Amino acid sequence: MDRKKERPMPDRLPQEAGEAGDSLLAVHGGNPVRRTPWPTYDKGAVFIHPEDEEAALRAIRSHLYFRYDHRAQHETECGRLEEDLRRYFGSRHALAVSSGTAAIALAIMAARIPPGSLVACPGFTFAATPSAILLAGCRPFLVEVDEDLHLDLADLRRRWTPEIKAIVVVHMRGFASDMESLTRFAAEMGVPVFEDAVPALGAELNGRKLGTFGLAGAFSTQSDKSLNCGEGGFLITDDSVLFARAVVLSGAYEGRFRRHFPDGDPPIDTDLDLPLLSFRMDEIRAALLRAELERLPIRLKCFRSNHAYVAAALADLPGIAIRRPVAPGACLGEAFIFRVPGGDAKWFAHALCREGIDARNLGSDEDANVRAFWNWRFLFGGAEVSSIKALLPGTARYLAEAVDVPLSSGLSTEDCDQLIRAVRKVAAAMGADRRPAPAAGTTAPAGRRR
Ligand SMILES: Cc1ncc(COP(=O)(O)O)c(C=O)c1O
Repeated sequence: MDRKKERPMPDRLPQEAGEAGDSLLAVHGGNPVRRTPWPTYDKGAVFIHPEDEEAALRAIRSHLYFRYDHRAQHETECGRLEEDLRRYFGSRHALAVSSGTAAIALAIMAARIPPGSLVACPGFTFAATPSAILLAGCRPFLVEVDEDLHLDLADLRRRWTPEIKAIVVVHMRGFASDMESLTRFAAEMGVPVFEDAVPALGAELNGRKLGTFGLAGAFSTQSDKSLNCGEGGFLITDDSVLFARAVVLSGAYEGRFRRHFPDGDPPIDTDLDLPLLSFRMDEIRAALLRAELERLPIRLKCFRSNHAYVAAALADLPGIAIRRPVAPGACLGEAFIFRVPGGDAKWFAHALCREGIDARNLGSDEDANVRAFWNWRFLFGGAEVSSIKALLPGTARYLAEAVDVPLSSGLSTEDCDQLIRAVRKVAAAMGADRRPAPAAGTTAPAGRRR
């Protein structure tokens, strides 16, 4: 669904249903707020239009699937996509690749971060971030997140060691990190910042696109992302040497990297110094992405208005603390996240699911969510979960309190109203029940008002 206009803010909060007669939770045998499945992230059909199909078919019918064939860069789908991305982000360079993970690893490797170095990243991110650091031959150094689930700079500063040679910041679930403070700190320490902007394609911080603050920005075009071609990604940067090295590493062999510098000499002489990792994008995906990029602003508007509408309607709800952006509007809007401080977030998410809303407690111990650092066993050998959690106690606590609801760009006003009603209904029941968190010594829900 294309909604070209911002969704109007609710003049009447949709809280009445869920009060009179209907307050019995579905989890206790009452009527659910919603009976049809919650539209989850856009796994496919939601935002693919006939013009996108045509673009992909055009590439298929051309029978030219490899980006580095006889054609010049500006005649290929990949080359054109990179030109469109450069224009969209206002960056000097763009490189289409095979995944977001590849884009992060390429940025680290192309920047010559010495193998074996520590690379800092937040303890709340998709497992792909520390995996990309490993792929680049480095070691992840996990950093706490704050109560709004942003990288906690105070923790990074406190535990800083000269072995840390780079920072990968993550705009997790589309929420910008505080790039001004972080880039200032990184400059002080003399290390580069790379942005894992995978979940935030198109989101801005103070009018500037995420991914353009660091030395390089990495994005994914896998199915859940703002641009969706099933698998894929890209890298943007203003650094020409980093870019040239990334092009070679991604698999541009036998001088093909020169095609990426049509207007002048490339800043490196040879490609023989670098391994070839075959992280290239193909022509069919690039054609699909170029078509989608044209309609991206419409999709971004839907995300933003869904999130603003739901957040405004629930802003004053006692018992929950809605995740706050670091600046007004500094989030994509593809997820509605709130904490239940002192309450039982696992129960809250379960009760929401029974009301017909797809909700997940991010730090549930019954759910091997790969966004929670204690589930990254590949980093910790055979260590006990409790001792892994003790490494980042703040992050472990905030994730345990957090509930995550996907906000598809295709949500209707009715969908949003049902989400609002369901959250109000569960919060009201929690208030009545006073369901404390399982951990001992917790207080009643704080009822933070903002
Ligand atoms: C924060 C983050 N970083 C990196 C990735 C990896 O992207 P890809 O699946 O394209 O490798 C993801 C995937 O969802 C992600 O959420």
